[in-house]
Amino acid sequence: MRFTIALTTTFTLAAAAAVIHIAQECLLPGVVCLQKHAAKLPYPFFREPVNGTFFNTFGDTEVPEDDSWDLVAKADFVLFDEERGRQVLGEYPSIDFMFEVSPYLHESPVFVPGLNKIFFSELSPTIDQFVIDLNSTSPTLSTFVADPPIYVPNGAFYHEGKVYYSVAGSNATVAGGPEQRPGIVLMDPWTYKTTTVLDNYFGFAFTDCDDVIVDPITGFVWFTVPYYSWWLEVADIAPQLKSATYRFDPATGSTVVVNDEMRSPNGIALSPDRRHLYISDTAAAGLSAPISLDVPSPGIPGILFNNTGKRTIYKFDLVDEGRAIINKRPIHYDVIGTVPDGLKVARNGYVVTASGNGLSVMDQFGDMILRVQTNFTANNFIWTDANDYREVWIVGQGGVARVKWDLQGQRAQ
Ligand SMILES: *[C@@H]1O[C@H](CO)[C@@H](O)[C@H](O)[C@H]1NC(C)=O
Ligand SMILES: *[C@@H]1O[C@H](CO)[C@@H](O)[C@H](O)[C@H]1NC(C)=O
Ligand SMILES: *[C@@H]1O[C@H](CO)[C@@H](O)[C@H](O)[C@H]1NC(C)=O
Ligand SMILES: *[C@@H]1O[C@H](CO)[C@@H](O)[C@H](O)[C@H]1NC(C)=O
Ligand SMILES: *[C@@H]1O[C@H](CO)[C@@H](O)[C@H](O)[C@H]1NC(C)=O
Repeated sequence: MRFTIALTTTFTLAAAAAVIHIAQECLLPGVVCLQKHAAKLPYPFFREPVNGTFFNTFGDTEVPEDDSWDLVAKADFVLFDEERGRQVLGEYPSIDFMFEVSPYLHESPVFVPGLNKIFFSELSPTIDQFVIDLNSTSPTLSTFVADPPIYVPNGAFYHEGKVYYSVAGSNATVAGGPEQRPGIVLMDPWTYKTTTVLDNYFGFAFTDCDDVIVDPITGFVWFTVPYYSWWLEVADIAPQLKSATYRFDPATGSTVVVNDEMRSPNGIALSPDRRHLYISDTAAAGLSAPISLDVPSPGIPGILFNNTGKRTIYKFDLVDEGRAIINKRPIHYDVIGTVPDGLKVARNGYVVTASGNGLSVMDQFGDMILRVQTNFTANNFIWTDANDYREVWIVGQGGVARVKWDLQGQRAQ
């Protein structure tokens, strides 16, 4: 009898010791730390692949043998690297849902210092743009129409008093404005006056100028050109050019292709030391069918997901006096959320992307540090100068959220 009890006890202890808690609350309420990046999950585990309009995120993985896993989906911040995650969060991290918006994609968030406003847009057939005024105790959201209007701006970058927009919409008959083809448009954020500086490539219309940056030293404008406008049905002209990434020099008007190897070049960002340029390829969101008039969109204005398609952030070295990029290499295959959409580099070189239900923060080599989680699909984000650029606003499908942490953004200048 005694022998049996002893055996049972030993067995129970062994079983208890084998219980794995991959996730645990750490540092602060709402923060969850993962054991070794959750590299080893107890069997059985399963995550449903994204497919068509269906998508899920990392926290939706089923891990029935570990009840601690439920913490992941509910967390505000998920730390893969506790030490560096703690440094990113600082002492008082927070995330607040600020505004409800439509389920359309929201893009081109840009902060204008001095004016203390964030501008952003909606990827729908509208000429209304959004502005958040941060100059009062509680921020306010309103709309405006630029003069002349900009039809579906998708990327925005603040440079020397102007907002540089990459325009996605392509429309011969925009209500309230002249014909507009994708390209680069500058807006004075104080007067809303706009000036188009690029609207074609040797007579062909771009399909969709998606995201844009300005190199602060050379003034070169870099922008990505995928096919999304066509699929989202905010373009009335079928793709005439292959998807690619370009460099435009506003001083001379010259446009040069810098990479033509991506089906859906999307986010683009420059490191603060100007040594590296990052571009994401989000081909996993879109159509894999040939680009033609026969395939105008996935059937509804929207995007279809393909689990094995590309959703990768590539890193390049900037060479030739800031004119070209070489050494393309993947640093991050972002399946945590959906696809790596908005892309920016923090002041310390960390790479941040908006993907699915939040932001992924990784180091310059792609090793994950943490996830910020939203209750809506995050499309893009921007730092404001609050607390010396320690505040980030996320815009997406259904919501706008504000994050306060210690990870500083590059200065808008
Ligand atoms: C993806 O979804 C489609 C449509 O619902 C379905 O026919 C197909 O089997 C799914 N593919 C996979 C790999 O699950
Ligand atoms: C924002 O607020 C500051 C301080 O109250 C004020 O000096 C500034 O003029 C305001 N800016 C705008 C654009 O209203
Ligand atoms: C072009 O603009 C008109 C008027 O604003 C709008 O009704 C139409 O849907 C737009 N077409 C496309 C393809 O974006
Ligand atoms: C999904 O993407 C893969 C890789 O690009 C491709 O081979 C496959 O045909 C795609 N599937 C569909 C249904 O588009
Ligand atoms: C997200 O949370 C906010 C605030 O808690 C709520 O107002 C909003 O409806 C939520 N959105 C979704 C899509 O659940």
